[in-house]
Amino acid sequence: MSQRVLTTESGAPVADNQNSATAGPGGPILLQDQHLLEKLARFNRERIPERVVHARGSGAYGYFEVTDDVTAFTRAGFLSEVGRRTETFVRFSTVADSLGGADAVRDPRGFAVKFYTDEGNYDLVGNNTPVFFIKDPVKFPDFIHSQKRDPFTGRQEPDNVWDFWAHSPEATHQVTWLMGDRGIPASYRHMNGYGSHTYRWTNATGESFYVKYHFKTNQGVRSLSAEQAAELVGRDTASHQTDLLQAIERGVNPSWTLYVQLMPEAEAAGYRFNPFDVTKVWPHADHPLRRVGRLVLDRNPDNVFAEVEQAAFSPNNFVPGIGPSPDKMLQGRLFAYADAQRYRLGINHTQLPVNAPRAATVDTYGRDGLHATRYGSRHDKNYEPNSYAGPAETGQALAGPLAVHGWTGTHEAPAHTKDDDFFQAGELYRLMSADEKDRLIANIAGGLSQVTRDDVIEKNLSHFHAADPEYGKRVEEAVRALRED
Ligand code: HEM
Repeated sequence: MSQRVLTTESGAPVADNQNSATAGPGGPILLQDQHLLEKLARFNRERIPERVVHARGSGAYGYFEVTDDVTAFTRAGFLSEVGRRTETFVRFSTVADSLGGADAVRDPRGFAVKFYTDEGNYDLVGNNTPVFFIKDPVKFPDFIHSQKRDPFTGRQEPDNVWDFWAHSPEATHQVTWLMGDRGIPASYRHMNGYGSHTYRWTNATGESFYVKYHFKTNQGVRSLSAEQAAELVGRDTASHQTDLLQAIERGVNPSWTLYVQLMPEAEAAGYRFNPFDVTKVWPHADHPLRRVGRLVLDRNPDNVFAEVEQAAFSPNNFVPGIGPSPDKMLQGRLFAYADAQRYRLGINHTQLPVNAPRAATVDTYGRDGLHATRYGSRHDKNYEPNSYAGPAETGQALAGPLAVHGWTGTHEAPAHTKDDDFFQAGELYRLMSADEKDRLIANIAGGLSQVTRDDVIEKNLSHFHAADPEYGKRVEEAVRALRED
């Protein structure tokens, strides 16, 4: 093989990549050393702002294959035929820590799926948990501030973490989930994924259904105890990245089976839980799982920065047949992601190879801006409407319309008959085995006992008491025992 020649960015051959140019052997460096200047300047610009949440993650490509007919519920083209395959890119992530954080920590995991459909990219940006800590997006920045590093101490502070939860009883369900066995997945391959929010499907005749997505891992759910996780972090902070990368390199391609829960639109108003409250699940007895297809990951990205760091998922990227529900949290997210990406990656991030549609054609008047590479063909007009056969609207909304009524204002989301912040947390506790309950209590007490203020501890205890009297009593006793130590 002939030797490849190192070049500058303008393509000129580089004469010396070991010694910079100086005025004589011992003299100062010359400004004319273009290779050195370019190399140092580029190095200074290698980092971009990390994601404000979910900074640390791992990605892989694969495909989604439809195994069951769901055309009665959605007209989405990529779900229209059994056997149909759609290319996908998936990014898994931790939430709270920064880019350099460890993988094997107690934290929810992101589970973001990009389907490159022929009707545009569909992004399903979920987590490995079916619920979330809060139900109004106005609380999200405060929530995240309380879980990330403290502005003074520069560390995650149990005081902040538990103070926020003390003021957010709606978090009790998700806190119970997080402190339970599933709180530290053994790897990204051994966890489920959930859309978490309720979305809306519309079929070819215009009928709409509310839908929740569940990706069940075919590798089996496996988790780590707090001790196993601490030991693993000590050996390999990037343990989940290592696992995913190596599994796919070995040809052990992880897969998930996608199920949905469906609720006919007319049932939503009378359901005993607010079906748009992301702190709640829909019990399977009410709405059974219906199988849709299989997600398989079979290819590692060639370049982590280009494809994983620059990946941009937005819950507002829908395709015909799929749309948002009135879930307030989801509504907040419809804005937040593309806005974050305009800041993090620039206005033309949708043109980067990992983000650009692969099966659909982009024909838009949205162009120009920093780093534009998409500009249509020579005579295309850049305004609409025009008389030159430029792209025009379809007049057909992606999903069916939502009926709304009431007064504008800052409202709490409507409460349904069985809505309170604790019932489902108690149900989850009662579902756990005796061993898992023991570990749950130990995990909660381990964190809560580090809190310095008694009133914050008391408020949190009151939530566990409200979820289940035994649960509350056991956490209280365990916290007291640790504080007396
Ligand atoms: C109002 C609530 C929320 C807001 C404002 C919010 C905002 C954000 C922002 C700004 C990012 C970074 C995006 C980027 O830079 O590319 C992000 C990432 C992410 N969020 Fe949220 N988030 C919210 C709730 C949620 C919920 C409920 C879930 C899961 C059901 C979720 C899952 C994710 C995932 C998986 C990522 C990482 C996506 C990736 O891999 O690039 N978020 N979120």
